[in-house]
Amino acid sequence: EKGGFEHFMLKEIHEQPDALRNAIRGRLDFNLGSSVLSGMGSSARDLAEIQRVVMVGCGTSLHAGLVGEYAFEDLADVHAEVQQAAEFRYRNPLITRSDLVVAISQSGETADTLAAVREANQKGAFVMGLCNVVGSTISRETGRGVYLHAGPEISVASTKAFTCQVAVLLMMALKLGRGRRFSREEGTRLAREIERLPELVEKVVTQSARIADIAKRYADHEHTFFIGRGYLYPVALEGALKLKEISYIHAEGYHAAELKHGPIALLVEGTPVIALANDIPGKDKTLGNVEECRARGARILGVITEGDHEAAEFMDDVIEIPACHPLVSTIPTAVALQLLSYHIARHRGCEIDQPRNLAKSVTVE
Ligand code: M6R
Repeated sequence: EKGGFEHFMLKEIHEQPDALRNAIRGRLDFNLGSSVLSGMGSSARDLAEIQRVVMVGCGTSLHAGLVGEYAFEDLADVHAEVQQAAEFRYRNPLITRSDLVVAISQSGETADTLAAVREANQKGAFVMGLCNVVGSTISRETGRGVYLHAGPEISVASTKAFTCQVAVLLMMALKLGRGRRFSREEGTRLAREIERLPELVEKVVTQSARIADIAKRYADHEHTFFIGRGYLYPVALEGALKLKEISYIHAEGYHAAELKHGPIALLVEGTPVIALANDIPGKDKTLGNVEECRARGARILGVITEGDHEAAEFMDDVIEIPACHPLVSTIPTAVALQLLSYHIARHRGCEIDQPRNLAKSVTVE
């Protein structure tokens, strides 16, 4: 049932090119430079009336929403925010009929996310589900939405659901954007980049053995930091969550600019810092932050764009990601971090598919 893989997590990481193919299939319109998401189920006019997108979710799904936040603002020029589902529910959120609330949940059963859906429904928002499990409670209670089609995710650590969530959020933002200021040319360009996702991710997955080798050098530390900025900031948070969840290493994700505001005090000789320094806007600033970490003796693993010799100079080890659209690059970058966490956990002999204290879906608050 694990298809020859040692763990479900590794199998699911390797399934991502196919999962993404399925999540994208039939949903891109290259002529209009837009996406076809019938599940969003409303007329162009309704979509044009949306004034704010509020995403709710927990854990990895929350991190996907954080990437979505950038996508909605950049592509659709619409105010977007992400809220932890429990926080949304208990803070008496300001919600109106012109808000689109997107509930992001792989399982569709997470108690806090479900409660947020009920709250948003009650307040009359336009609510939509972004679920993987067909017929799940959240998908039923939202009534409309988009399925991931990522296939069953068995491992507690979410991998393919995250990358498919981000891919679908990019397509949602594209659709909303095309009804607003995003031009057809830009739309077509982005659609073409989204279409490349299976191939881009394949190029990362095939580096598994190399990443396993790098992982040996990062497996014996009790603290690890992930840094990134812009689109890669949420990916840094997700990388840290994955590492702590399956390897029991204390890991923190920080915006690279936050380091100097406290966290840098934690760095000592040899502390691992995973720096997301792909060639996207802000890279030079991140490289400056990497330099500050090196000066404190940190060991730096950089995730960089293929062939970026300048960035490689700053790093002790590198994982290379193929060049692609900055928003799209969040997905192959996340896959690199999934493999890194997996191999670190494996070196440490952890129970990868069923980490202690965790359940696949959290149905209590
Ligand atoms: O099924 P959901 O997407 O609602 O689950 C949310 C979180 O419980 C989940 O993403 C959790 O953080 C993962 N185990 C992380 O890998």
